[in-house]
Amino acid sequence: MFRLLLEPDGAPGTVELDDPVGTRVGDPVREDGAAVDPVEPAQLRAQARAVEDVVAQDERDGLVPDEVRAEHERLREAVGLVLHDVLQAEPELGPVAQQAAELIDVRRGGDDQDLADAREHQRGQRVVDHRLVVDREELLTDADGDRVQPAPGAPGQDDPSHRHTITSHPGGYGMHMHIVVTGGAGFIGANFVRRTVATRPDVRITVVDALTYAANESSLDGVGVEFVKGSITDPAVVDELVAPADAVVNFAADTHNDNSLTDPWPFLDTNIRGTAVLLDAVRRHEKRLHHISTDEVFGDLPLGTPERFTEETPYRPSSPYSASKASSDHLVRAWVRSFGVQATISNCSNNYGPYQHVEKFIPRQITNILSGERPKLYGAGANVRDWIHVDDHNDAVWAILERGTIGETYLIGADGERSNREVLALILEATGRAPDDFDTVPDRAGHDLRYAIDSSKLRRELGWAPARADFAAGLRDTVDWYRENRAWWEPGKAGTEAAYARRETPR
Ligand SMILES: NC(=O)c1ccc[n+]([C@@H]2O[C@H](COP(=O)([O-])OP(=O)(O)OC[C@H]3O[C@@H](n4cnc5c(N)ncnc54)[C@H](O)[C@@H]3O)[C@@H](O)[C@H]2O)c1
Repeated sequence: MFRLLLEPDGAPGTVELDDPVGTRVGDPVREDGAAVDPVEPAQLRAQARAVEDVVAQDERDGLVPDEVRAEHERLREAVGLVLHDVLQAEPELGPVAQQAAELIDVRRGGDDQDLADAREHQRGQRVVDHRLVVDREELLTDADGDRVQPAPGAPGQDDPSHRHTITSHPGGYGMHMHIVVTGGAGFIGANFVRRTVATRPDVRITVVDALTYAANESSLDGVGVEFVKGSITDPAVVDELVAPADAVVNFAADTHNDNSLTDPWPFLDTNIRGTAVLLDAVRRHEKRLHHISTDEVFGDLPLGTPERFTEETPYRPSSPYSASKASSDHLVRAWVRSFGVQATISNCSNNYGPYQHVEKFIPRQITNILSGERPKLYGAGANVRDWIHVDDHNDAVWAILERGTIGETYLIGADGERSNREVLALILEATGRAPDDFDTVPDRAGHDLRYAIDSSKLRRELGWAPARADFAAGLRDTVDWYRENRAWWEPGKAGTEAAYARRETPR
């Protein structure tokens, strides 16, 4: 039995369908379970938001028995409805979506027998009884006539298997928000996903990540979000994911400056073309985009001056990496201005925290020490970076998503200026090493001297402030995290150091 939860003052109704497996639409109820008056199927079609995320996810996971899939197709054809969410009759079993998440966790564990058992178990439960839940906010939005269809020619539009109906949310996201997080298996994206899951249970997340060398899928272990392996440069993948979502947060990028010096092309492909593909999709489906960028687009500042980057600082990128990020920012602004895309941009300073790849400065130093090696410092270590804890960055991203003005750029920084030499000194202290226990290596070509962010616009307009402004304390926590999570970083350490060894000669 499916049950529709309808807004009391909407026109409710009953839809009965033939049902070979015991599932049918009927008995519309309010959220409190009270019965409501009947309504014509056509009115239901106009009101009920028809997003079939759970079934779509379940299909991808191979969880939907053929009978349920067939019934679902019949339901959609007959009344234009598709499943938004499916609840088990027995409350203690929990929503099907939650079970799917558990299954994903089982899969991450890599135990095939567990997976087979879980699948069989859930298959058995699912055929028994289902409820179709239509979100109240979405009903109201639909009643205002805000449903939009994919543009003709959109990928999948002519494909009978294309499953999505799209709803825009001009008045806010309501009780549930569905976001696509690109690059969610990377450092900042994974922290964003973990923090969002921990603090915002009303947000549903789909991660899409190409799983490049920089990704670590185990960063999402136990989190229980939908994960899609795919590239933001693939229009079909992007279209499929953007269509049913409310918003996209774009963390996906090639990010390592050193690699961009040896081979710039992947940077141009992902950072520029990938952003354009995302823009095209959010434009077509009228979805919100927040684009994550870097302060490196501004080039560098002189050492020893009080000057800082602001939203008005002209772009002056130095490396192929920062030039490709600068290009992506320009594309976002062009799509906002030319096509009315609902997008915001943030440029953040250097992040630190758990789950960062060991090729990056802070994790490299820490893991060198934890491996019994000496840390490596570029040149004299005079270059200054403006450090921010990754959680503070991600809280700022949420502030912009929720309260930011469309078309605006916000700089994110926590007044954390430190020279590389100072950072290394703090790491040596936190690990009980002598202050001079490190090697120096030749400086990187075009190495930016100093970055510093003025984030007063973000603080003033959106009320954000860093909660982890004590850099030394945050660094000690980060050292502890790497000490306690060797299994996360050790497998990639030797390969990363071999790549560095090809570039560096100790002196
Ligand atoms: N790390 C920093 O200090 C910092 C500072 C400011 C801004 N940023 C920006 O934040 C974002 C995330 O940075 P990070 O440090 O987490 O990077 P990261 O390298 O740790 O992660 C990037 C992720 O993107 C994925 N990816 C790469 N190409 C992809 C593609 N074509 N399609 C889908 N996924 C793809 C990778 O697999 C990886 O999981 C980037 O846009 C970066 O420019 C980073």
